This record gives sequence, structure tokens and C-alpha cells, in this order.
Amino acid sequence: MANQQKNAWKPGKRDMLFLGVVAAVVLTLVLGSGERKTTPVPSDSTHRTSSSKAQCLTCHGQEGVRPQPKGHIQSGQCFQCHLQPDGWSGAAPK
Ligand code: HEC
Ligand code: HEC
Repeated sequence: MANQQKNAWKPGKRDMLFLGVVAAVVLTLVLGSGERKTTPVPSDSTHRTSSSKAQCLTCHGQEGVRPQPKGHIQSGQCFQCHLQPDGWSGAAPK
């Protein structure tokens, strides 16, 4: 009996602190994985039918009508960050 009591775990101050930190990290990850915050791609006929990066960059490259802002990432897939518009037809012919 005495032995059992000795082994019983009682959370101390440091344990509570540790659990608090773990909870904070989990909460941050869960909240952070929510909505994408980047400007979505507009839903117009141009954007609903553009699917390749090369296509995007004819207008959004340095010489285009609407260049990406200075310091914008030069690699990566556009739709990874900019949400696709509703009714986007992708590469599939319509
Ligand atoms: C024919 C030219 C053209 C093509 C191709 C094009 N865009 Fe655009 N895009 C524009 C113009 C002009 C605007 C700004 C006016 C507007 O809101 O429609 C714009 C706006 C945007 C915006 C909103 C931010 C802003 O500047 O208002 C995003 C994001 C965007 N385009 C991403 C893309 C992506 C990703 C592709 C490829 C799938 C793409 N565009 C293809 C011309 C184009
Ligand atoms: C790693 C994420 C990421 C990728 C990939 C990416 N962008 Fe962006 N883009 C951003 C961020 C962040 C901004 C800053 C403004 C914002 O919140 O939309 C931005 C801004 C823009 C803007 C101006 C938007 C405005 O509101 O003025 C355009 C146009 C644009 N990106 C086009 C593109 C195109 C075209 C591609 C693909 C070649 C692309 N982006 C790929 C993250 C990204």
C-alpha cells in the first residue's frame, strides 16, 4: 500500500508549465492551419481559364499589365497561395 502511494504521480508546477506550453503550441498550429490569407485569384473569365504559371506570368510578370509586387516569391505554384476562383476550369477543356 505504501509503495503504491509513493508511485502515484502528482503534477507539480513544472509539469503544469510543460503541459501549458504543449497546449499553446497545439493551439497555434490548429489555428494557423485555417484559412489562407493571401489575396484570392479573382473570379473573371481570364482567371477562371488560366491554369499554367506561364499563362499567369504573361500578365503578372515584370513586363505584364499587373506585375507581382516587388520581392514577391519567384518560384512556387500560384494556386498554392492564391486561392483558385469559383468555377475554375483548370487545364481541362470545356
Ligand atoms: C490576361 C491577363 C491575366 C492573366 C493571364 C492572369 N491575370 Fe491575374 N490579374 C490580371 C489583372 C489585370 C488583375 C487585376 C484586375 C482584376 O482584379 O481583375 C489580376 C488580378 C489578380 C490577382 C488579385 C490581386 C490583384 O492584383 O488584384 C491575383 C491573385 C491574380 N491575378 C493571380 C493570377 C494567377 C494565379 C493567374 C494564373 C492562373 C493569373 N492571375 C492570370 C490579369 C491577368
Ligand atoms: C508562397 C506563396 C505565394 C506563391 C506561390 C505566389 N504568391 Fe503571389 N503573393 C503572395 C503574397 C503573400 C502576396 C502579398 C499580397 C497578398 O496578400 O496577396 C502576393 C501578391 C501577389 C499579387 C498582387 C496581389 C495584390 O493584392 O496586389 C499578384 C498579382 C500575385 N501575387 C500573383 C502571383 C502569381 C501569378 C503567382 C504564380 C506565378 C504567385 N503569385 C505565386 C504569395 C504567393
